[in-house]
Amino acid sequence: MASLQLHLLPLSTGPSSSRFRRSPVRSSTERQSLFNRIAPVYDNLNDLLSLGQHRIWKRMAVSWSGAKKGDRVLDLCCGSGDLAFLLSEKVGSSGKVIGLDFSKEQLSVASSRQKLMSKAFYTNIEWVEGDAIDLPFSDGHFDAITMGYGLRNVVDKHKAMQEMFRVSKAGSRVSILDFNNSTNPVIAFTQELMIDNVVVPVASGFGLAEDYKYLKSSIREFLTGKELEELALDVGFSNARYYEIGGSLMGNLVATR
Ligand SMILES: C[S@@+](CC[C@H](N)C(=O)[O-])C[C@H]1O[C@@H](n2cnc3c(N)ncnc32)[C@H](O)[C@@H]1O
Repeated sequence: MASLQLHLLPLSTGPSSSRFRRSPVRSSTERQSLFNRIAPVYDNLNDLLSLGQHRIWKRMAVSWSGAKKGDRVLDLCCGSGDLAFLLSEKVGSSGKVIGLDFSKEQLSVASSRQKLMSKAFYTNIEWVEGDAIDLPFSDGHFDAITMGYGLRNVVDKHKAMQEMFRVSKAGSRVSILDFNNSTNPVIAFTQELMIDNVVVPVASGFGLAEDYKYLKSSIREFLTGKELEELALDVGFSNARYYEIGGSLMGNLVATR
């Protein structure tokens, strides 16, 4: 059975379109503080909780983004930078990667990791502090966009999708990885079982039980694969396809502008 990774947070969601569920469990500021607080242990927890499998899912997400040599690409809600580093390898020295997050602490961890990396092309990454619902980039700026375990944590998902659409070039792809809010009761039960018996106990060891307790509800309140496809089409993407991965515990939306 695939194990859960915690990219995590319990936070739930609330897109602006009335067609999509609202669930204002926490404010954007509370979420920002939460990600600042967990930054020092975030990477270790992800490896532990997913038995390293999050690395495979992230590679898949980057591959689905279609990023290639020389591209200018964006990793939204980049956290400590896992997807940005993978993108950096894809686009190479002639390309450019922007990793954007609203948590200063997460960006600081990302920047420290970058300094420890030996390959020259990793200098093609720039870290930007910003909000996914108000991107500081011009229209049609990027050749590809990724977002790993971010959208579930953004309060206004509809606005975030609109922004991704705005800053992406015609024909480019957006690849969004997160937990799968499965409509299959067996998958949903498995996720809950793992959260109760693995995730929360492990997070307690890091003093973060409270922070991870809401994960279960955040997944249930997240958009389903079908709703994510509808959201992408709603903001203007011409094509949207949701792939269930990791034993259907995870999912990846691929939308083409
Ligand atoms: C679960 S972490 C995922 C980090 C990374 N993408 C990964 O997969 O390891 C979610 C990240 O989203 C960021 N985030 C949440 N809402 C955001 C927003 N509105 N704007 C920018 N970043 C946001 C958090 O600060 C956090 O670093």
